[in-house]
Amino acid sequence: MTGFAELLAESQVVICCGTGGVGKTTTSAATALAAATAGRRACVVTIDPAKRLADSLGIGELSNTPTVIDGPWDGTLAALMLDTESTFGEVVRRHAHDDAQADRILGNRFYKNVSGTLSGTQDYMAVEKLSELSSSGEWDLIVVDTPPTRDALAFLEAPKLLTRLLDNPIYKVVTASNKGLIGVANRAAQGVLRQLARVVGAAVVDEAVAFFQAFQGMEDGFRDRAQSTLELLGDDRTSFVLVASPRSDTLDEARYFLDRIRAADLDASGVVVNRMLPATGVGTERAAMIKAGLAGSPGAGAATALADLAAAAADDEARVADLSQSAPNAVLVRVPMLDDDVHDLDGLRRIADLLTADAPSATS
Ligand SMILES: Nc1ncnc2c1ncn2[C@@H]1O[C@H](COP(=O)(O)OP(=O)(O)OP(=O)(O)O)[C@@H](O)[C@H]1O
Ligand SMILES: [Mg+2]
Repeated sequence: MTGFAELLAESQVVICCGTGGVGKTTTSAATALAAATAGRRACVVTIDPAKRLADSLGIGELSNTPTVIDGPWDGTLAALMLDTESTFGEVVRRHAHDDAQADRILGNRFYKNVSGTLSGTQDYMAVEKLSELSSSGEWDLIVVDTPPTRDALAFLEAPKLLTRLLDNPIYKVVTASNKGLIGVANRAAQGVLRQLARVVGAAVVDEAVAFFQAFQGMEDGFRDRAQSTLELLGDDRTSFVLVASPRSDTLDEARYFLDRIRAADLDASGVVVNRMLPATGVGTERAAMIKAGLAGSPGAGAATALADLAAAAADDEARVADLSQSAPNAVLVRVPMLDDDVHDLDGLRRIADLLTADAPSATS
C-alpha cells in the first residue's frame, strides 16, 4: 500500500484510536470527508466532538442517526454524535422478545443504577453503532472515532461487555433458580442471594434479580452480536489508524497502543502523526549558522527563533522515524499543526487534503 488515499479506498471501516487530545475526532471527520470527496458514501461516528466542530457539521445535538452534510463532494458525507444512553436502549430493544421485556429492563431501578456505568461505556456503544451502521449496507466507509483512553483494548474488548455482564454470578444464580433446578445449585443460589442481601439490602437484590430475570432469552442474541462484531473488527477491510502526536510524552503511549493492537492479533494500517511542527525549509545546521551570523544584530531574535524551531522540528522527525519502526507495515502520514483549531468544514478539508496528499508515506 502506498498512501492514505489507497488505505481509505480499500477500507470499509476505519477506526481512529490514540490517547487523549491527539486529534482522533479531527482525523476521523477529515477521513470521512476525504472518502466522500473520493465519491464514497461515508459516515463518521464521532464521540464528544468539540462544540464548534459539531455545530458546523450540523450535529450539535446528540443524535443516534447519521445526519447528511451537504457540500461539494461527489459522494455522501454523514456524521453522528454518539448518544451512549439511547444506544443502550436501542440494543436492549433490538434483542428483546417484545416491548414488554425491553420496558422491564429499561424501567428497572437496578438498570438505572448500573446504566451510568454501562451506557457510559462509550467503547461498547461505539462498536454497537458501528455494527448497526455496517449491517445497514448504506455506507461504503464507516469511520469510528474512539473515546480518550490509555488502553486500545478497551475498544477491542467492548463487544464482549454485555456477554460478560451475563456471566455475572447473580445472572447465573437467577437463571439457575428459575430453571427450577432444585437441590444443590438452587440452595447455593439462595445462599448467595441471602448473603448479598445482607450486604446491599434486600430491595437492591430484588431489583437486581428482576433485572437479570428480564434478560432471560436474550443472551444468545448478545453472544451472536459480540461474535459478529469481533469478526467485523478483525476483517481485512477494517483498518486501525493510530493518531499520535510527535511530542515525546505521548509517543510512548502511541507505541503502547501499537503493542496492544498487535497483542490482539490486529495490525495498525495507518499512523497519523498530527500537529507536526511546520517545516522551516532550513536545516538545523544552516539555521544554527544563521543564528551565529546574526548574533548581536537586530535580526538575532528572529534567527534564534528559527534555529529553535528547526531543532525542535528535527527532534520531532527523529521521534516519528522511531515510532514508524514500531509499525513497519503501516502507512505513515504527517499532518502539520495548523495555525488555528479545526472547527469547521474548511479546516477538515485542509486536514483531509494533507492526509491524502501524495507525500512519500509508506514507512517501509
Ligand atoms: N493539525 C491540527 N492543527 C491545529 N489544531 C488541531 C490539529 N488537529 C487537531 N487540532 C485541534 O486540537 C484539539 C483536539 O483535537 P481532537 O478533538 O480531534 O482530539 P481528540 O484526540 O479527539 O481528543 P479527545 O481524546 O479529548 O477526544 C481540537 O481543538 C482540534 O481542533
Ligand atoms: Mg475526541
